[in-house]
Amino acid sequence: MAEEGSRERFSRLGALMAIVGSAVGLGNIWRFPYQIGENGGAAFIVIYIGAMLVLCLPMMLCEFVIGRRGGSAPIEAFGKLAPSSPWKYAGYLYAVIPFIILSYYSVVGGWSLEYFFRAVTGFFTSDTTQEQTTEFFRAFSSSPSRPLVCHTIFMLTTALVVSRGVKKGIEAVSKALMPVLFFIMLAIAIYSIFLPGSGAGFEYIFKPDFSKVNGKTFANAIGQAFFSLSLGAGVMLTYASYFKKKENLQTIAVQTSFSDLGFALIAGCAVLPALFSFGLSPQQGPGLVFCTLPVLFAKMPLGVVISIAFFLCLIIAALTSIVSTFEVVVASLMEHFRIPSRKKASWIIFVAGWLVGTLCCLSFGPLQDFTIFGYTIFNFFDTFTANVLLPLGGLVAVLMVGWKMDKDVFYSEYTNDGAGSLNCKLFPFVRFLVRYVCPLVMVGLFLIQCFFHS
Ligand code: PHE
Repeated sequence: MAEEGSRERFSRLGALMAIVGSAVGLGNIWRFPYQIGENGGAAFIVIYIGAMLVLCLPMMLCEFVIGRRGGSAPIEAFGKLAPSSPWKYAGYLYAVIPFIILSYYSVVGGWSLEYFFRAVTGFFTSDTTQEQTTEFFRAFSSSPSRPLVCHTIFMLTTALVVSRGVKKGIEAVSKALMPVLFFIMLAIAIYSIFLPGSGAGFEYIFKPDFSKVNGKTFANAIGQAFFSLSLGAGVMLTYASYFKKKENLQTIAVQTSFSDLGFALIAGCAVLPALFSFGLSPQQGPGLVFCTLPVLFAKMPLGVVISIAFFLCLIIAALTSIVSTFEVVVASLMEHFRIPSRKKASWIIFVAGWLVGTLCCLSFGPLQDFTIFGYTIFNFFDTFTANVLLPLGGLVAVLMVGWKMDKDVFYSEYTNDGAGSLNCKLFPFVRFLVRYVCPLVMVGLFLIQCFFHS
C-alpha cells in the first residue's frame, strides 16, 4: 500500500461526517418523502434498501477503492491506476459532473437562505394561502436580483469552507453542522408526531402498497438511492483519497448508507404527518419546500420556531452537499493543473461556478425561454445529471474496479491487506456484484428510463 504521505487525512469521525454530509441533502428532504408515498410506502422502502445493499454499497466501495488507491482526485486517480489505457480519461467525467451539480445546487441553497430570512422576519402569517406562497415563490425565483444575491452568498460560503482545507474546512464544518442538522430534524419529527391527525402521514410513509410496485418503482428507488448517496459524481472517490489507510472502507460505506436512509425517514416523519394534519397534500421538489411548507408552518403552533429550524436544516443539508462537489473540482484543478494554492483554486472555481450558477438562476426569469432539448437551463442540468450523468459515473466506477483493476489491488484495498476477516469472506460476493450485477442493473436502468420517457 502507498504511504500516507503529505496528503491531508480525515479523522475517522471527520470522514464519516463529511461523507454523510454530502449524502444528506435536498434529495433526502424534498424528494424522498414524496417518493415513498407515490411508490407504495413501505414497499418502496424495502426496494430502496435492496437497491442500496445490492447496488449502491458496492458502487460506493468502488469509488472508495479508486480514490484511496489512487490517492488523488478523479483525474489523477484514474491516470495513476490506468496510465496507459483509455481508462485514464474516465476521470474527467468526475470533474464535469460535480461542477454541474455545484452550479445549480447553489441556486437552491440561495433560495433556502431567502426563506430562512423570511422565516426569521415572520413574513408568512397564518392567513397566508398556498396560492400566495406559490405566487411569492414564482415572483421571487424569476426576479433577476434577489436570488442572484442569495446564490452569490451561498457559493461564497462554500468557497470559503473549501479554501480552508480538508481538515480545517470540510471536516470541521461537517463535524459541527451534521449533528445540529440531525437533532433539529429529529425534534421537528417528534413534534410532528404529536399533531392531531398526523396518523395519515405515517400511513402514507409506512403502509406497504404492493399494487403500486412496477418497473418504474424499481427505477425510482435506484435513482433515488443513487442521487441521495452522492454516487457517480466523484465525491466518494475524492473523499476516500483523504481516508487513512487503516479505515475499513466497508464499514464507512454501510454506516453512510444507513445514516442517509435514517435521515431521509426522519425528514419524511418531520414533513408528512404535519402536512396531513393540516389537510395539505404533499408535492415534491421546490413546490413542497417553498410553496406548501411555509403555509403549514404559518398555521401550526410554534410555527415560527419550526420554520426557522426547518430552513436552517435545509441550508446545512445543501451546504455540506455542495461543499463535497466543490472539493472534487478544486482538488482536480489543484492536482491536474498543478495549482499548489488551495485558496487560488477555490476562487477560480468560485468564479466559474458562480457564472454557470447565474445562468441557472436566471433561467427561472429572464432566460426562461432559452431551452436545451425543451428544458430550461436549470431543469436541463438537474434532469441530465440525475438521469444520465450520475448513473454513467456509477457505471464507470464499477467497470473500472470490476474489469480493469487488478483483482489483488481490489482485494488489498477492500480487506486492508487481508486484515478484515469479514471483508475477506465477503470479497468474492462483493466482486461478483461489482463485475456482473451492478453493470447489468445500470444498463437495465437506462433502458427503463428510455422506455418510460418515450
Ligand atoms: N446526495 C445529495 C442529496 O441528497 C445530492 C448530491 C449528489 C450531492 C451528488 C453531491 C453529489 O441531495
